[in-house]
Amino acid sequence: MLKKLVSTLPKAELHMHIEGSLEPEMMFRLAQRNQIELPYPDVDSIRRAYQFDCLQDFLDLYYQGMSVLQTEQDYHDLAWAYLQKCHEQNVVHTEIFFDPQGHTCRGVTFETVMNGLCAALDKAGNELGITHRLIMCFLRHLEEDDAFSTLEMSEPWRERITGIGLDSSELGHPPSKFKRVFERAADMGFRRVAHAGEEGPPEYVQEALELLKVHRVDHGNRSLESRNLVERLAASRMPMTVCPQSNLRLAVVKDMRDHPIRDMLNAGLNASIHSDDPAYFGGYINENFYALIDAIDLTSNEIMQLVKNGFKSSFLPREDIQRHLAAVDTVMDKIL
Ligand code: HPA
Ligand code: ZN
Repeated sequence: MLKKLVSTLPKAELHMHIEGSLEPEMMFRLAQRNQIELPYPDVDSIRRAYQFDCLQDFLDLYYQGMSVLQTEQDYHDLAWAYLQKCHEQNVVHTEIFFDPQGHTCRGVTFETVMNGLCAALDKAGNELGITHRLIMCFLRHLEEDDAFSTLEMSEPWRERITGIGLDSSELGHPPSKFKRVFERAADMGFRRVAHAGEEGPPEYVQEALELLKVHRVDHGNRSLESRNLVERLAASRMPMTVCPQSNLRLAVVKDMRDHPIRDMLNAGLNASIHSDDPAYFGGYINENFYALIDAIDLTSNEIMQLVKNGFKSSFLPREDIQRHLAAVDTVMDKIL
């Protein structure tokens, strides 16, 4: 019954890297189409390789995987496959991360990436009624200069890109490294989010708030180690985009039964549930909820709260958020 509730509820996804939705089947198909050699004989062996001890283990395969993406058609096909999943799972609004530097560093132009993604997103708006925002992330293991030139490349696409984010290897690359880039982006009118407190300490979350002036914290799990920080996050209702299956697969939590989502809600944190890199971590948004239902007996009330937090934390206009919240209430009444 709770799984039926999850699958039926309209949902907003706010933390999903489009490159992380590249399923092994498509990776293989695109590799063939573009005559790229993958270090795997078949799809099964790719899936078997998805065993990670930490974030970096995953990132190594993630960057290798995205190297099959070359043409506008590839980016279109990638995004379209994800958007069809959204449709199947009742995700009605999605704020998609993409990593421009993961493509431009291989000679794929910013324009190629944007043309492909936007074609699929526009089609999903027209044919599936799915709304979207695009958030371009800076790779934090690269230099500040590289982020600045990426910001410059985005200039012609200013109307299509709502926000900037910060992802990749967290430890050793604190938010402070990108303070000036985020200031410039703020001047340009971009919304701001950043991965913080996934592997990094609570101080990185604090830096994201104070130096990057973020509107959302991505992950943020390790905030729980600092009572002061939790109080501050709760008092400001700072959105935190939590990704349970990612947390498990990247050893941020040891067992799903230890997942802190209930503690987060009980501490007054504005947490919501998302899939991060669904092709790598074992599922899309619904499967992330199912995993919590199975492991910690997530209740219908918690499900409703998490789903509503997702809409409230989105970059949609207030009227649209209200409309989605009303639709959530309608489904709650119908199913329960
Ligand atoms: N963390 C940091 N960088 C990422 C992730 C993540 O979970 N997924 C894709 N890039
Ligand atoms: Zn992420």
